[in-house]
Amino acid sequence: MEVKIFNSADEIASAASEMFVKIINDKNDAVLGLATGATPVPTYGKLIEAYNSGKVSFKNVRTFNLDEYCDLPRDDKNSYYTFMHDQLFDKVDVCEENVNFLDGNAADWQKESERYSQAIESVGGIDIQLLGIGTNGHIGFNEPADAFTGDSFKVTLTQSTINSNQKYFGDVPMPRYALTMGIGLIMKAKKILLIATGESKAEAVKGMIKGEVTPKLPASVLNEHKDAIIMLDKAAASLL
Ligand code: GLP
Repeated sequence: MEVKIFNSADEIASAASEMFVKIINDKNDAVLGLATGATPVPTYGKLIEAYNSGKVSFKNVRTFNLDEYCDLPRDDKNSYYTFMHDQLFDKVDVCEENVNFLDGNAADWQKESERYSQAIESVGGIDIQLLGIGTNGHIGFNEPADAFTGDSFKVTLTQSTINSNQKYFGDVPMPRYALTMGIGLIMKAKKILLIATGESKAEAVKGMIKGEVTPKLPASVLNEHKDAIIMLDKAAASLL
């Protein structure tokens, strides 16, 4: 695991977007694993800038998002599907048929999980997976648990995650369940880039980098990935 510390979230966004642009330009039909949350938004902003200045095209890129809430219509304003369209997809030339999400409303989540794994495999696997980290060390929606997960599955969100994410839903109670890529599936990505910014992530970051590899801090599994890069701002790195 390679750890890089930057002066600001803006510097991280530039470095992360340059990494993505290079991968897309090297491969043209690159397969991107994408993440939601506030952390990747500046990186998506820089990717839009790169697209607008002709440095990159998403025309042949395929995307797979990490997770999606259950019991929320796909085009609800708080769905991750809507989030990604607002923050990136609607502002670049990605083709809608190349955009992939887990269906949080699938009647049978096990079948949905199989479909997603097969879809990823059929395009040759994910070239780069972007990740954020929850304050409890979760990645995607893999919450602290007794064992690492495998393929995608339905998760009951923890109170800590609900406390962190309820703000986006205002007065409407947020969903209690989500479908998420499991740890096994995330770890199959050829390259992983985790970004953490702000003091609220410092404890989880310390556990991930200095602690043991344990499903109780899911992000710690990245120590076992052969090409994982962690980009931190000074606040997120403050307990290292
Ligand atoms: C959600 C997402 C995660 C994300 C986390 C942190 O729980 N499922 O993928 O990493 O939030 O979000 P933020 O970047 O807003 O702190």
